[in-house]
Formats: sequence, C-alpha cells, structure tokens
Amino acid sequence: MEWSTRLTDLLNIQYPIIQGGLAYLGYADLAAAVSNAGGLGQITAMSLPDANSLRCEIQRIHALTDKPFGVNLALGMQRADLADRLQVIKEENVSVVSITGGNPTDMLNELRRTDIITLVLVSSRRQAQKAEALGASAVIVVGNEGGGHLGRDGVGTMVLVPSIADAVQIPVIASGGIGDGRGWMAAQALGAEGIAM
Ligand SMILES: Cc1cc2nc3c(=O)[nH]c(=O)nc-3n(C[C@H](O)[C@H](O)[C@H](O)COP(=O)(O)O)c2cc1C
Repeated sequence: MEWSTRLTDLLNIQYPIIQGGLAYLGYADLAAAVSNAGGLGQITAMSLPDANSLRCEIQRIHALTDKPFGVNLALGMQRADLADRLQVIKEENVSVVSITGGNPTDMLNELRRTDIITLVLVSSRRQAQKAEALGASAVIVVGNEGGGHLGRDGVGTMVLVPSIADAVQIPVIASGGIGDGRGWMAAQALGAEGIAM
C-alpha cells in the first residue's frame, strides 16, 4: 500500500491520516497519540474556554510529542477571542491550522503571512476553489457521511471528492465515512492524497 503523498510531504508525517477536529474530545492526549503513531493529531480549540487554556493545551502536547500536530479552529464558535487564539497559535509554534465553520477569508489572509500550513474544511467545489484561491495549503473535503458536520446538501464523500480533486491543484483530503485501510484506498482512487477521520 502506498502511503507517501504530497500531503505526507507537506505535513512531514508518515501516514496521510488526519485526526479531524473533535469538539470536547480533541485534547492533547488524543492528538499526541495520533501524531506519535505517524498521522496528524489536532487539538480542537473550540473545546477550550479561552486563549490561555489553548496555550496550556498546546504546551501539554509539545511535552507529549515532538511530531507535527495541528489546531482546529471552528470560526463560528470562537467568538470574540479568535485573534487572541491566533496569537497563541503563532507564539507556541503550531505548524498546522485547520479551519471550519465559517468564511475563512480573513484567517487565510492572516495566516498567509506566516509559515503555518492551512487546511480548510469544505463541502462543495465552490468552497474548495475559493480556499485554494485564498492560499489554503490543502482542503479537507467532508461528505455528508461526516454526520452533517459539513456537507448538509446531502452530497456524499464518493461524489464530492473526485469532483473537487478535478477542480483544484492543492492536495485533497477526504473525510466522512472512512474507517479503515479500504476507505483510504478508495479515497486515493477518487483523487484524495489523505484522509481525515
Ligand atoms: C463528536 C464530533 C465532533 C466534531 N467536532 C468537530 C470540530 O470541532 N471541528 C471540525 O472541524 N470537525 C469536527 N467534527 C467533524 C470531524 O472532524 C470529521 O470531519 C468527520 O467526523 C468525518 O466523518 P467521520 O466521522 O465519518 O470520519 C466532529 C465530528 C464529531 C463526530
């Protein structure tokens, strides 16, 4: 089985497997376990009440792994302290940020001035093309199988992933309904270079 893709190169990870943002589950312990196993773990910022708690959680994961990890930002949920959280992300040397739940324009414009890799969650071809035009490093394409977290138009992963893989140049990460190695192989056949689950 071929594991090496543009995504593993981009993120400097062994397997093209990302632990998706998980509200109230995606803390440092889980994220470090995924990163230590060769994927990309993520701290989910929306589970944390404020920017200082996010800083503590990032410092905790730095103590648990020396591998790359990400922070997931749900834009609609961070409210007024989004700028403070972003400042913490920069100060604490986070290398990857994933963005969901809102218009990513301002965030991508801000992060383009840094070395931080940006993964934008999308559920349509239009959103993917917009994210690419705004400088996103890769898109996470979430089909309706992802529990309607995104993709409320009812378009499944199987349809969405090839459609977006044909429409953008940046790596596509498939998400929604992928649970094992067969799912990864299917996603790869559809044009994805990684999976988020
Ligand atoms: C309990 C739960 C909480 C989630 N919270 C977030 C979140 O905070 N941010 C995010 O980007 N995605 C979130 N997601 C979506 C997942 O990261 C992922 O895109 C989706 O679950 C993929 O589908 P799968 O569960 O079939 O693998 C959440 C999913 C679940 C099940």
